Amino acid sequence: MVSDMKDYKPMDSFDEDGAAIYDDEPRGDETSTVSFLAALAGGGPALELAIGTGRIALPLAAQGIRVDGVDLSEPMVKKLRAKPGGERLSITMGDFADVPVDGTYPLIYLVYNTIFNLLTQDDQVRCFVNVASHLSEGGCFVVETLVPTYLSQLRDGQYVDAEQISTREVTLDVGRYDPLTQQLEESHVVLSAQGVRLYPIVTRYIWPSELDLMARIAGLRLKERWAGWDKQPFASSSRNAVSVYGR
Ligand SMILES: C[S@@+](CC[C@H](N)C(=O)[O-])C[C@H]1O[C@@H](n2cnc3c(N)ncnc32)[C@H](O)[C@@H]1O
Repeated sequence: MVSDMKDYKPMDSFDEDGAAIYDDEPRGDETSTVSFLAALAGGGPALELAIGTGRIALPLAAQGIRVDGVDLSEPMVKKLRAKPGGERLSITMGDFADVPVDGTYPLIYLVYNTIFNLLTQDDQVRCFVNVASHLSEGGCFVVETLVPTYLSQLRDGQYVDAEQISTREVTLDVGRYDPLTQQLEESHVVLSAQGVRLYPIVTRYIWPSELDLMARIAGLRLKERWAGWDKQPFASSSRNAVSVYGR
């Protein structure tokens, strides 16, 4: 049993228990994400790094675009396979930082802050370098990340945030941030009459500027950056960054 956050790994969040609840509360941005990606994919194929339960890949594939995927979590991929169309996707079980596939793609994408699941700068750069070697001529790498402004404003690198409040249940987001490693140890704590449930997660945050340097190391450059999937202009106050890289 894992008791110390230091022993906790990003993949621990996507075990049977994590996969069981993953689709319970959809993020709500699926339609706009799929429209954005479909416009870039052209005829495809597209590759989703960290495909998970197919939240984005399945509706994108439903538009007639071939979508391949990479993931390390058997329980997450099992959920994808059980959904309509899920059995048809080609999914490689492996570390997405390795981009362990053959061939090239006009579109590779990595959404929902998941590049943060790589806990070192080296692994995050390795991901960019491997993506670059699998992009076809004119191809794009789309990365969605939150902008960690709130972390730089923390007192003592810690916070407790009221994430959801209802009469029956309260969810707190509790975090501790190390500015040296840029790692955030975090837990979503659900309090209700049924008791207390903990959903820990560990990540390494990246500012958009660091992302851009990682891309440059990989021989890519920023082509577009938006504050969301509906192409809201990116500004100093933006909380979300949708970055499009290419050669
Ligand atoms: C937040 S979920 C995102 C899933 C999907 N992209 C979505 O938007 O719903 C993160 C996914 O990344 C996968 N993952 C995390 N680290 C990984 C790694 N190093 N290699 C492969 N998959 C990884 C997890 O198994 C999980 O399915």
